[in-house]
Amino acid sequence: MSVLPQAGNGKITVPVLLQRKSSTSLSREDEQKITCLTAYDYPTARLLDEAGVDVLLVGDSLGMAVLGYDSTLPVTLEEMLHHTRAVRRGVRRALVVADMPYGSYHSDISESVRNAVRFVKEAGAEAVKIEGGERRLELIVRLTEAEIPVMGHVGLTPQSMNAMGGFKVQGKSPDAAEQLVRDARSVEAAGAFAVVLEGIPRELAARITRELRIPTIGIGAGPDCDGQILVLHDLLGLTFSAVPKFARQYANLAEIISAAARKYCADVRGDSFPSDGESYHLPQGARDSKTINMDVELVDLGDIEN
Ligand code: KIV
Repeated sequence: MSVLPQAGNGKITVPVLLQRKSSTSLSREDEQKITCLTAYDYPTARLLDEAGVDVLLVGDSLGMAVLGYDSTLPVTLEEMLHHTRAVRRGVRRALVVADMPYGSYHSDISESVRNAVRFVKEAGAEAVKIEGGERRLELIVRLTEAEIPVMGHVGLTPQSMNAMGGFKVQGKSPDAAEQLVRDARSVEAAGAFAVVLEGIPRELAARITRELRIPTIGIGAGPDCDGQILVLHDLLGLTFSAVPKFARQYANLAEIISAAARKYCADVRGDSFPSDGESYHLPQGARDSKTINMDVELVDLGDIEN
């Protein structure tokens, strides 16, 4: 596990994020919006951390983004722990938040707490995220009592896709909007340090953001939240399914990867890869002798010059 920089050295911690919400804070950094992205592996976690992303969420969206499932529902606790460990190893500054997968916090509260503890103890997560509002009140209380910071998630919660009848914008009717406000308030009252608002009207997200003391992190919730999150693969152009209208694509890695793979195949088939310069050689004396001494020591693989 990497050695983390101490708080105060630019390390993003839960108190640092709470401070960003405070309207009385004076420093410019404290006024900045919170940037969050999902991450699922070491290299991307490392790049995102070095790029200055504040929060890296090991989202259960990994089920769809990298494991090829149709939804987030099949993702297991062990899969989430495995990917959280990889992300942890790549991160020094950002806050690492692990998503609790469907089924890992839906029955017994003590078992849910034990599952959350595994993210902190075995995978190095600094917080967990759980979906649901009012009905998660007791669980959030218990997790915070166990010293596990909780990020809430209300609105369009993908783990409820069967109950919601698909991925639909939530909170559109006056009643549904009031329920969503109650959900967000419950999450805050239970002790969550932030809440994701997903797939809700901009105006409702703005109201919740005004009313809560904890930061709101929007995804498909308009620009008035305290921070924003996107699924990394949507941002990079690596998504095979339809990309939601709220996601902005900043790069087209699918094209870059395909082109690189096509060029590699052409080079191998056309005998231009590997070149002599990309090959190892026998020592000079052995090269000239008619019989090759099979006992000759192989050169160090790192020594590309030989
Ligand atoms: O799983 C995930 O990636 C998420 C974010 C989109 C908020 O829950």
